[in-house]
Amino acid sequence: DAVMYMPHNVTVNVGTYADLGDCDVLVNSLGDITLVATGDRNHEMRYTVAQLKATMPKVMASGFNGVIISITNPCDTVADLVYKLSGLPKGRVFGTGTGLDTSRLVSALAQQTGYDHQAISAYMIGEHGASQMAAWSCVSFGGAPLAALEGKDERFTFDKDELQRIAINAGWVTYHGKQCTEYGICSTLARMVRAVLHDEKRIMPASMLLEGEYGEENVFAGVPCVIGKNGVEEVIELPLTAEEKANLKAGDLMVVGCSSSEVLGEKIGTASSMEAAEAIHEIPEVTGIISFVDLAGAEVPQAYLDEATLSLLESEHYARMVIEAKV
Ligand code: LAC
Repeated sequence: DAVMYMPHNVTVNVGTYADLGDCDVLVNSLGDITLVATGDRNHEMRYTVAQLKATMPKVMASGFNGVIISITNPCDTVADLVYKLSGLPKGRVFGTGTGLDTSRLVSALAQQTGYDHQAISAYMIGEHGASQMAAWSCVSFGGAPLAALEGKDERFTFDKDELQRIAINAGWVTYHGKQCTEYGICSTLARMVRAVLHDEKRIMPASMLLEGEYGEENVFAGVPCVIGKNGVEEVIELPLTAEEKANLKAGDLMVVGCSSSEVLGEKIGTASSMEAAEAIHEIPEVTGIISFVDLAGAEVPQAYLDEATLSLLESEHYARMVIEAKV
């Protein structure tokens, strides 16, 4: 319906997997939005992991060799899974991540200050979920750091925790209004696709594999990224304060994709998944296991598994462990 009013000609096709072979950008938006009625994006994993395990081999069999941008929740965990299942080079698979949450923070700051969104540089970083955080020390307005403006003008003297809470909860406000979100996430995605197709080298937040940046290893998280024709071409390390670094670490969703309990064991320093699951609970900082299953089929204490994970264990035996660790 909308094509006539779009800025350029658009053709919409219903294709097959074979048609994907010569595409430049593939968007993963698989999902069952009803599963997040619990208020936890991680609970969609019971559907999305199984679907991706079934579809990604067909996608890659088409010869697809472009860039994959993943929306599907839990966004960071699923981006990691798509990356692993695709076998594409690092950077060629990334998630929308906190690109969406950042737009929510900037909207809150625009409302607070009266400035245009484009004049505000700010980032939500970390998980596209409850543990994300605003990098307040790096917020600026037309180049003027927030720190230099605070106290000088009431517009810049505000409750940072409250604005951060607004940004984190904004998705749920929309969801409870219409049982989905669409325009925010699709605008974020469209901006990323444009940056890839036009090789813009645009810097914007996205969920990207970290290998040492921000002190993180082998985890996808929302950080400022340079986006161009090869997807994420560079991760920008913000000069976070020590407290911000600690909060980012503390809010870690540590994702361990284990093809065997040995891999899991080395992460937790125990010999088997069962011991690992028990060992995790011994770590005082751990706030809880969101979901834990083991591909190796090792016994996993049922007591530690939530409903979503139990059904995943029965249906897919997919090896993902997502724990909220305050380590
Ligand atoms: C949101 C969904 C995309 O935050 O997770 O709107």
